[in-house]
Amino acid sequence: MNLKGRDFLKILDFSSEEIEYLIDLAAELKAKKKNGVPHKMCEGKNVALIFEKTSTRTRCSFEVAARDLGMGVTYLDPSGSQIGKKESIADTARVLCGMFDGIEYRGFEQEKVEELAKYSCVPVFNGLTNESHPTQILADFLTIKEQFGHLKGINFVYMGDARYNMGNSLMVGCAKMGLNFTACAPEKYFPDKELIEECKKIAKKSGATLKFETDPMAATKNADVIYTDVWVSMGEPIEVWKERIDDLAPYEVNSQLMKNASDNAVFMHCLPAYHDFKTEVGKEMGEKFGRKSMEVTDEVFESEQSVVFKEAENRMHTIKAVMAAMM
Ligand code: CP
Ligand code: NVA
Repeated sequence: MNLKGRDFLKILDFSSEEIEYLIDLAAELKAKKKNGVPHKMCEGKNVALIFEKTSTRTRCSFEVAARDLGMGVTYLDPSGSQIGKKESIADTARVLCGMFDGIEYRGFEQEKVEELAKYSCVPVFNGLTNESHPTQILADFLTIKEQFGHLKGINFVYMGDARYNMGNSLMVGCAKMGLNFTACAPEKYFPDKELIEECKKIAKKSGATLKFETDPMAATKNADVIYTDVWVSMGEPIEVWKERIDDLAPYEVNSQLMKNASDNAVFMHCLPAYHDFKTEVGKEMGEKFGRKSMEVTDEVFESEQSVVFKEAENRMHTIKAVMAAMM
């Protein structure tokens, strides 16, 4: 498998064999790291990290992975570059690709990262856009593979706002890799119709099934994985909180739903999560709308079934695989 020079912009651009290769490479690199085996596969190279939105996991994963691979790293924060304000994406791409061997970009519209890749002479990696979060999917699938030994046939249920980056990318990933995907939310939160049609075609080949449910108990029956994400994503206005809570409160992942799932079911979340009052936003919105948690109860988040911190660690190993394969 040769992925050198490829961009990593969305899961849709990759075949199931390529995705499997990246997950397996991540597992290999993870084993090397755990056993103290050096793996400086990109020695002497440099990667630029552009973040127009904040990050903990994705930034740290790129930085640690780059260092483990023997690379130099430059981080450009949301206020620390000219990008978009005084210099176009196209010009930025052509400037950076003269200095770096790879560019990571986290921002708003998917078109921006596509534009960056179009003008860049080095690989571009999508570190999250409104529409897509492809590196997160690799980490999620590595975690599922570690947990269950396989991906095909896993009953995967996504609770909550399935129209945004996580819902979209997980649906595509499941369709490609043969997992049975169910989105559970009020209808207006189902993914884009065109993307659903595209995924149905992909699912025919992989054997995946796609379902869209409004009833949480029907959706979670026999689930192997129950996954959720925040109800209000980065960049969305504060005013949407009320509507989201009104619409999505019945879809909070709680222990009743976990009990309804299969005996070995796990809880997953890309994080960060609003499961208690220990965050500024969680506290403010919780007090304002009379809730102790939002998309997941603290009980489920802290339970034995929750694999969220393994999943977070796997961000680093999978991002490392992407850079090692493509740079
Ligand atoms: N899951 C994720 O992308 O986390 P960060 O926003 O902290 O990078
Ligand atoms: N949907 C979330 C994902 C965070 C990793 C957001 O875009 O803020």
